[in-house]
This record gives sequence, structure tokens and C-alpha cells, in this order.
Amino acid sequence: MGKIFVSEHPLIKHKIAMLRNKDTGSKEFREIVTEIAMLLFYEATRDLELVDVDVETPIATAHCKMIAKKIAVVPILRAGVGMSDGLLSVVPNAKVGHIGLYRDPVTFESVEYYCKLPSDIAERDVFLVDPMLATGVTADAAIHFLNERGVKNINFLTILSAPEGVKVIQEKHPDVNIFSAAMDPGLNDHKYIVPGLGDAGDRIFGTK
Ligand code: URA
Repeated sequence: MGKIFVSEHPLIKHKIAMLRNKDTGSKEFREIVTEIAMLLFYEATRDLELVDVDVETPIATAHCKMIAKKIAVVPILRAGVGMSDGLLSVVPNAKVGHIGLYRDPVTFESVEYYCKLPSDIAERDVFLVDPMLATGVTADAAIHFLNERGVKNINFLTILSAPEGVKVIQEKHPDVNIFSAAMDPGLNDHKYIVPGLGDAGDRIFGTK
């Protein structure tokens, strides 16, 4: 079973409260999503594999460690894009892939409309990002999509999750670790997270 990490960090809790506020405007919302994504990525990279390297300092040889595998950040379009800058501010050399999926508002099924991934994606540790893990349908489709392209190591980073979505990912993808900045009690009839923060994409891009 993949692990589920829900942050208990005071900085993240504070920023989540600001995100939830319906009066928080788009500019601030976007900035806070970036900050939370960066803090969450810090937690999610805690167990990255390291290799030994010897570095010549001006004084002597230092026995150091560096990250063993290359990293790819993969936002699920469109709301996931709001998180990628946070991750890239910590690992600027990561490559970025995009997966375009949207949730059909009637069937709630996931529909793919775009995909562009780094050519060596199968060799990379992938950090898949989407701010809302609600039903899990979109995340499931994106993970399936990456698995089909040979990706083995996937961590899913989200700002807010519902137990329904977590259950889907844990059951269907036991090898995927989930890192969530916060978890809410459940979904409403429209599959929105309650109390949630509304439509993350609209709030990030100011489209409502
Ligand atoms: N997507 C969102 O943007 N918000 C939700 O509450 C659920 C899915």
C-alpha cells in the first residue's frame, strides 16, 4: 500500500486557511498554492535515493551525497500548473511534462485532451501534481497513463484531498505515495470537496 502523508506543519495549516477563504483573490491564491507546493515537495523528497560523491572544496575532499535519479514534475492540466513553479523553485533542473485531463461534469469520467512528456520519463522519479484529489478519477487516469509509458516511481502531490479519492488511488495504485497538504471529510453531490476551497483551477487562473 502506498503511503498517505497529510501535513501537520503549522506553516501549511496557516496557508491552507488563507486558501480556503472565499475572499482570497486570484493573485494571492496562486502565490499561496506555489508556497504550499514547495513546502509539500520538501516533505515528499525526504526519502529520495542518494549516491556518494566526492567534492573538492578549496581545502580538501568532502564526502557528499547527491540525488541519484533525475526528477520530472508532471502537472495535470490545468490546475496542476499552479503547483509546478513551487516544485521547480526547489529542483530547477527537473523536466516538466503535462497531462491534460478534465472531469466530464455529467459523467464525472476523466477525458484526456493533451499529453507531452520528457522522452526519458520512464527513467525519472515523477512528481505528479494536482491541487484537488476529489473522486480520484483524474489522478487514477494520469497515473495509469504514466504507467503505460513505463514510469515506475510516482509520487502524487495535492493541496487538498478527500478520503474517497485517497481510497481509489491506494486501491488501484498501491505503489504510489500521496502527499497532501490537508484532508477534508468528503465530497458533496457535485463531487466538490467539502468544506474545500472551491474550484482550484478557477481560483488559480481567475476564470470565474
Ligand atoms: N476540483 C476542484 O477544483 N475542487 C473540488 O472541490 C473538487 C475538484
